[in-house]
Amino acid sequence: MELIFLPVVIILGCVALLLFLQWKNLQGPPCIRGWIPWIGAGFEFGKAPLEFIEKARIKYGPVFTVFAMGLRMTFVTEEEGINVFLKSKEVNFELAVQSPVYRTASIPKNVFFALHEKLYITMKGKMGASNLCQFTGQLTEEIHEQLDNLGTHGTMDLNNLVRHLLYPASVNLLFKKGLFPTNKRKTMEFYQTFQAYDEGFEHGSQMPECLLRNWSKSKRWLLAFFEKNIPDIKAYKPEKDNSTTLMQTLLDIIEMETNEQSPNYGLLLLWASLSNAVPVAFWTLGFVLSHPGIYRTIMEGIASVFGTAGKDKIKVSEDDLKKLPLIKWCILETIRLRAPGAITRKVLKPVKILNYTVPSGDLLMLSPFWLHRNPKYFPEPELFKPERWEKANLEKHAFLDCFMAFGSGKYQCPGRWLALLEIETCIILLLYYYDCSLLDPLPKQSSLHLLGVQQPEGQCRIEYKRR
Ligand code: HEM
Repeated sequence: MELIFLPVVIILGCVALLLFLQWKNLQGPPCIRGWIPWIGAGFEFGKAPLEFIEKARIKYGPVFTVFAMGLRMTFVTEEEGINVFLKSKEVNFELAVQSPVYRTASIPKNVFFALHEKLYITMKGKMGASNLCQFTGQLTEEIHEQLDNLGTHGTMDLNNLVRHLLYPASVNLLFKKGLFPTNKRKTMEFYQTFQAYDEGFEHGSQMPECLLRNWSKSKRWLLAFFEKNIPDIKAYKPEKDNSTTLMQTLLDIIEMETNEQSPNYGLLLLWASLSNAVPVAFWTLGFVLSHPGIYRTIMEGIASVFGTAGKDKIKVSEDDLKKLPLIKWCILETIRLRAPGAITRKVLKPVKILNYTVPSGDLLMLSPFWLHRNPKYFPEPELFKPERWEKANLEKHAFLDCFMAFGSGKYQCPGRWLALLEIETCIILLLYYYDCSLLDPLPKQSSLHLLGVQQPEGQCRIEYKRR
């Protein structure tokens, strides 16, 4: 009797468990899981994530889960879900990003978790809106130096031109003046290696490094670059008394807390500072140069602040920038249109969104790219309309409602004000000294980018002549 009783109990137990799991699943959002174990919908999703998200929203409604590469990602696209993403205490930034941070910069998860808040507060302070005056002088100088190398006229791929201006300026500003190589061969090596690292970042954040040989090589090269230069960065004395560069301050904190001098944070800061700012500068110049009316108004503004274009060696101050709001509006409008595909938080305890319960462990995903295309928040969303930014209270450092390209909440991008300053300065100096025109139509944006802003799919040449 007992021999029959045990299997019956096991079978009944299994059936009950199955029913329970099914019932639980009924409570969850619709799930797109593909048919291959672990990979799930990974292939279709990876091919064109932005299109995948939009098609899924149309088919499954405002909340849906995508199972891919062993991860459950639940996307929220409407008000209630967005509020949970932004305000709920049950969702967490650090736990969502600690695995990608480990994969891309080899920072152990426990170290990242222990240091993150302190490092974030430091970055937010040093790059805050009220601290920007610290950067304006050196930034103008650095971009001048790079413009001098351009010569009197030429033709170049616009993306390369922007890299040529912003890579050295940003590295020398945030790490140490003179850190960016000046020797031609080493400069090329840096450009190519960083580009390879940046292009593979998205895959590198999800897959084991051993499957990505070239990307892994670029990562190791950049880590070795910082390893070699950390002593110099630490010993560097900025010209202004008592000031330190952002990286110097971060290194002090890391050393105090861990007793180590981590080149890994150098790599992470390098990527964060360049990977979005460079394509945004590319697209902004592209939009401005392909809208003759806007280009003309910008040039009139520049002449009214700095005098006849091209004549003097100018400095760009924060006061000058306040007199040129159209340039900032153009940058913000560009960021709206080319925003990151998704930002992410980890669900700590089940959260209710509409009639669904999103289980703990899911990654909650919000897509700034698609949010910025909702006509409820941004009328005529596909049009480049810088004037819509007139309504934003930028003096008070507020963007338009539902603009989320810099993330939102406690861990919003700490470099956002510096990014705007860098791009504004770069555009003003380039257009002040050079008469520029595009030789190709603006390329399409690639729909491959989930983590960062959208990149161009192909080349766009710019012709420049010294004024
Ligand atoms: C237009 C350019 C930029 C865009 C669109 C952008 C966007 C973002 C986004 C979406 C996040 C994630 C925020 C979230 O999940 O809520 C982020 C984080 C971050 N950004 Fe930016 N960013 C830009 C430029 C910069 C620059 C110039 C720096 C300079 C150092 C920077 C440093 C960082 C850092 C360090 C983080 C991580 C913050 C943390 O660990 O909590 N970003 N950025």
